[in-house]
Amino acid sequence: MTQTHVFDVIIVGGGGAGLMAALNASRTAKTAVLSKLYPTRSHTGAAQGGVGAALGNLEEDRWEWHAFDTVKGSDYLGDQDAIDFMCEEAIQAVYDLEHFGLPFSRTPDGRIAQRPFGGHTNNETKKPVRRACYAADRTGHMILQTLYQQCLRNGINFYDEFQVLDLLVQGGVTAGVVAVELATGELHVFHAKSVIFATGGHGRIWDITSNAYAYTGDGVAVTLRRGIPAEDMEFFQFHPTGIYKLGILITEAVRGEGGVLFNGLGERFMERYAPTIKDLASRDVTSRAIYLEVKEGRGIKGKNYVYLDIRPETVNLYAEKDGRTNPDGTPYRVTAEEILAKIPDIADFCRTYLGVDPVKDPMPIQPTAHYAMGGIPTDKFGQVVIDDKNTVFPGLFAAGECACVSVHGANRLGTNSLVDLIVFGKHSGLLAAAYANGSSLPSLPNDPTDFSRQQIDQLMNGSGREKAANLGREMRQVMMDNVGVFRTEEGLAQAVEKVQELRERFKQVKVGDTSKIFNTELLNTWELGNMLDLALVTSITALDRKESRGAHARDDFPSRDDQNWLKHSLAWMDGDKVRLDYKPVVITKYAPKERVY
Ligand code: FUM
Repeated sequence: MTQTHVFDVIIVGGGGAGLMAALNASRTAKTAVLSKLYPTRSHTGAAQGGVGAALGNLEEDRWEWHAFDTVKGSDYLGDQDAIDFMCEEAIQAVYDLEHFGLPFSRTPDGRIAQRPFGGHTNNETKKPVRRACYAADRTGHMILQTLYQQCLRNGINFYDEFQVLDLLVQGGVTAGVVAVELATGELHVFHAKSVIFATGGHGRIWDITSNAYAYTGDGVAVTLRRGIPAEDMEFFQFHPTGIYKLGILITEAVRGEGGVLFNGLGERFMERYAPTIKDLASRDVTSRAIYLEVKEGRGIKGKNYVYLDIRPETVNLYAEKDGRTNPDGTPYRVTAEEILAKIPDIADFCRTYLGVDPVKDPMPIQPTAHYAMGGIPTDKFGQVVIDDKNTVFPGLFAAGECACVSVHGANRLGTNSLVDLIVFGKHSGLLAAAYANGSSLPSLPNDPTDFSRQQIDQLMNGSGREKAANLGREMRQVMMDNVGVFRTEEGLAQAVEKVQELRERFKQVKVGDTSKIFNTELLNTWELGNMLDLALVTSITALDRKESRGAHARDDFPSRDDQNWLKHSLAWMDGDKVRLDYKPVVITKYAPKERVY
């Protein structure tokens, strides 16, 4: 028999955004977290280099500079009211983490240490500024562990290894979710006044990605099926430095600590693409530069990778050439021991996966699918909004990578994913609790598990003529080839056609494992359905946007076109059809300008 649980606030996802929301909601409301993983295995744990906040611990910094860098990084597609809110709030949110016990790296006098990151600048001198607060190269891991400990301390209810399959809506109001308990295969109804989706991103739709296997876009897919649009899905960030062929992230902090990119001719090619800020240009600029170097035959040994070099002799040589100094004005110089102390996990990954010791040899890297700027549309307090007038959907919230606030616009600034999840996790939690405390429990729909059962039945009873593994492989390849760093009309049209074909073939898939206990084949097949939906929305929105902006670079429309395209896309799915509309960008202080790095 289906069990029903009643809470004020249900949070779907146990990563950084979900846990931050849970901590804040649980202060005043009965709260539960549902997670398909054990929470400390969430992908927030893979975030490495830092969380941005203008603490100014090592040199002058201001939240307004952080905000402008974010607007500029977003290629002017970010909503400026929300960006101001995030950058100002980031400072308190980082202190919240410190007070929760997060073991930040420290300056010699005991304050939170900060390092340079791509696109973080002193807006007056235009030079890099140390803004990324870090815990070695394990910042996300430390955030996750710290928040989880605080959640346990606060007695929050956890339903680990519960996969949410459906959002319940009654009379136009959020009424809860339905989840399958992976250990038993049983469906559970979670009846609630507020639901917060914090389900992370969907990088697994590309072949080379830094994302965990769990990043399959579940929250966006579930809400799309309930008539909620997805915003700005054409914008997906490729991080410039993934381990060659594997995609595993090599943190931007490597370049923040002085690492330099080289092509096959031994040239420091970023001097040509970003003469002022060079290797610390924003991610879209750097990923495109690597792509072009490779395309023009200047990859290492003519192959599709370049080198990232953090050997002390390289760092010191280029620090001298660039005139880089320490905060006290002395020349910036490093030793191998200092580098290893700042990037211990990276050193470990390189030794394990590449057989390369990064203080002795350069690291082979290539751009890797990393971060979804688009997702479930929300306002700056995490409330889900469903149209071009920003109409609020009562009781529904989203935070973290699955949400589109939009603070990242067309390209996210490094470290702003962690900023996003602590700031909007916190505020969505507070508001979801306030909403729940001011409303009564909506009734449940008749037969609340009906749609979840239909989804499972379809996967268990297909003809079996198609194999999920083949469809997944074909999806990842076409997305990588045609919806990657550079895009064209022809390639995108082919991607749309191919993904439509794959979605049709998906109807013939049959899950072979008929058991109920930990049926991971069923779970993975359901996730593939989510990814196919998001791949379709991504390629259709990318095909429609006839300009280049941030991470969306069209060979056939190489310029940004503010006249026609300074607007957010909204996409609705109705069965096999995708409907598009657009809404304006919020511009407050910063009129769009050309980006120069
Ligand atoms: O490069 C990194 O450490 C990644 C950080 C981020 O995605 O913000």
